Amino acid sequence: MSKKVVLTGDRPTGKLHLGHYVGSLRSRLEMQDSDDYEMFVMIADEQALADNARNPEKVRGSLLEVAMDYLAVGLNPDKTTIFVQSQIPALYELTFHYMGFINHGRLSRIPTLKDDIREKGFEKELPMSWFTFPVSQCADITAFGAHLVPVGADQLPVIELDREIVRAFNQQYGQILVEPEGLAPSGIAQRLPGIHGPNDKMSKSLNNGIYLSDSSAVVKEKVMQMYTDPDHVKVEDAGKIKGNVVFIYLDVFAPDGPKVAAMKKQYQQGGLGDVAVKKYLIEVLENLLNPIRARRAEFEKNPEQVRDILRAGSLKANQVANQTLAKVRAAIGLNYFG
Ligand code: TRP
Repeated sequence: MSKKVVLTGDRPTGKLHLGHYVGSLRSRLEMQDSDDYEMFVMIADEQALADNARNPEKVRGSLLEVAMDYLAVGLNPDKTTIFVQSQIPALYELTFHYMGFINHGRLSRIPTLKDDIREKGFEKELPMSWFTFPVSQCADITAFGAHLVPVGADQLPVIELDREIVRAFNQQYGQILVEPEGLAPSGIAQRLPGIHGPNDKMSKSLNNGIYLSDSSAVVKEKVMQMYTDPDHVKVEDAGKIKGNVVFIYLDVFAPDGPKVAAMKKQYQQGGLGDVAVKKYLIEVLENLLNPIRARRAEFEKNPEQVRDILRAGSLKANQVANQTLAKVRAAIGLNYFG
């Protein structure tokens, strides 16, 4: 059986946090270690510039941070091609070729676009780079012949639009492009809450995150601030599990299920204090983060090595993307001069 090609990526706008770990990094590690997939992981710097054209330092400054987070969690460049979007010229050209297969009205009806416009303050001036990012995302995906595209649930409409572009292109020119499938996480992987309460997803803008590169002291401080049950005041009080972020995290991260179940029971009956539960969560998170920190420290000592990894990954990605581009140009009939 031939391997399924997987393409996924992140916009470099800051360091990665536990929400990224639960939502995508964890499943990438599983795919990497399975023989069923060939995986490309892209640092989408050009897509980050699409809404940061006036703030390129933020994007440039996050590139190595994201790369180091990838390597620190265990993405292995010998198995997974890690590359940088802006270093793949074919992606720009494919984007342009696809523009003719989608129209303005269809793009403007993408639901996430409406939310983005509001959140990013683009009501008056919507940059074309942002308006058209779903088309560029179609180039990212099809350049590598990706079958599977792991994304957040909010991005599924973008993948649906990309599938339409692929179908329209193939209808015109024959079976040139692979029609991708979006793969959204389910359950808690969809939205790990931030430390301040169960209703907000962990996100940089809300300042409620625990980062993969946070020190032990910082993790401890953040867990100690973490939202529990506001009515659980004294140790003897009965406490609530539902909406209690500390227990939500224990469900996700603690390897010892029976121990968590026993703690929940005691907490609900009364007699278990928040501090004791938090201490256990700190221990669990430290066990997860310690090896990640240790690997990150090695790469931080040697940023040139990280650049070499990205350079080599981009070289390989270019070879693959250029083959797709050659097919697309030939299909359109642009090879006028032989
Ligand atoms: N849009 C993705 C994000 O916001 C990043 C991304 C860019 C991507 N191009 C992609 C993801 C192609 C999957 C496939 O994180």
